[in-house]
Amino acid sequence: MSEKIAIVGSGLIGRSWAVLFARGGYRVVLYDVKEELMTQAMGVIETQLRSLHESNLLLGKDPAECFSRVSTCDSLSSTVEGAILLQECVPEDLGLKRKVFTELDSMVSDTTILSSSTSCIVPSKFTESLSHRANCIVCHPVNPPHYCPAVEVIPAPWTSGHVKEKTISIMKQIGMKPVVAKKECDGFILNRLQYAVLQESWRLVEDGVCDPEDIDTVMTGGLGLRWSFIGPFETIHLNAPGGVRDYCERYSDGIVRVSNTFGEPRPLTGETLVKVTEYLEGDVPMEKHKDNLEWRDGVLKQLAVFKQSMPDKP
Ligand SMILES: NC(=O)c1ccc[n+]([C@@H]2O[C@H](COP(=O)([O-])OP(=O)(O)OC[C@H]3O[C@@H](n4cnc5c(N)ncnc54)[C@H](O)[C@@H]3O)[C@@H](O)[C@H]2O)c1
Repeated sequence: MSEKIAIVGSGLIGRSWAVLFARGGYRVVLYDVKEELMTQAMGVIETQLRSLHESNLLLGKDPAECFSRVSTCDSLSSTVEGAILLQECVPEDLGLKRKVFTELDSMVSDTTILSSSTSCIVPSKFTESLSHRANCIVCHPVNPPHYCPAVEVIPAPWTSGHVKEKTISIMKQIGMKPVVAKKECDGFILNRLQYAVLQESWRLVEDGVCDPEDIDTVMTGGLGLRWSFIGPFETIHLNAPGGVRDYCERYSDGIVRVSNTFGEPRPLTGETLVKVTEYLEGDVPMEKHKDNLEWRDGVLKQLAVFKQSMPDKP
């Protein structure tokens, strides 16, 4: 029988993890404090598996066979019993993460990996006093994880080397691209980059340089196009005839000069919030929020299909 993965919390992210682990060949058991959410989750998981299969993104697996390995359970201790890894997906609240991890600590075997989906909370904040703290780690996915393969793996200072290596190997096996942090850092990697761009976008609008829609156009019609297949380092390497050294020689002074004008972080409030809201309410209205989410996921799916068949680098 295939190895078991436990998912604790069957909301947006828990459901996606279930799809990914089932696609990777694991048996998946889902738990939630709200039973009706688990029933809903099963419907979503079945649909997502079928949809991935239709787009050739199910790694050659049969969707019905993957779905037959997913089940729900209304007891937390039975959910985690015998699991090689449990993926915690409860809401982003430090008190709740501490409570859930303390509960799990008393139930798991010495070999179960306790992995959290937290977006921003470093693992040492909710695992320090646990007897299984060497088994704790963060695996932070990007939403929606079934179309965005990057996953941030953040060990706590006391996470064992074996748990780190095993987690990385499981992530690779289910088709993810793990990025392993060498040490804990507030906001991890993805959100620090995202917040840097968001802060500068806010400043440009607040200081009257451009309108909110211009920021989105610069990203969707410029930077973001390249960033979907080469990162900022590869971008600068290819942007100078002599590669990265040449680029840095030419542009380092200018980058430092401009960066010195960035200034203090701005709170996301006030007149700028009114401006940004007006733009978004016009272009992406709340009454069409669900439709716009489906549209975003549909486009991401097409991008995932394209990236799968992208030509290799020479
Ligand atoms: N939404 C995102 O874009 C995103 C992306 C990456 C990571 N994350 C992280 O994933 C985690 C889950 O986020 P989400 O968006 O899926 O939230 P969500 O609100 O959609 O789902 C959370 C689920 O946890 C359940 N829950 C609450 N308390 C519980 C408990 N004690 N035991 C078991 N289940 C419980 C809720 O009933 C709910 O179904 C958060 O830490 C979040 O930061 C979210």
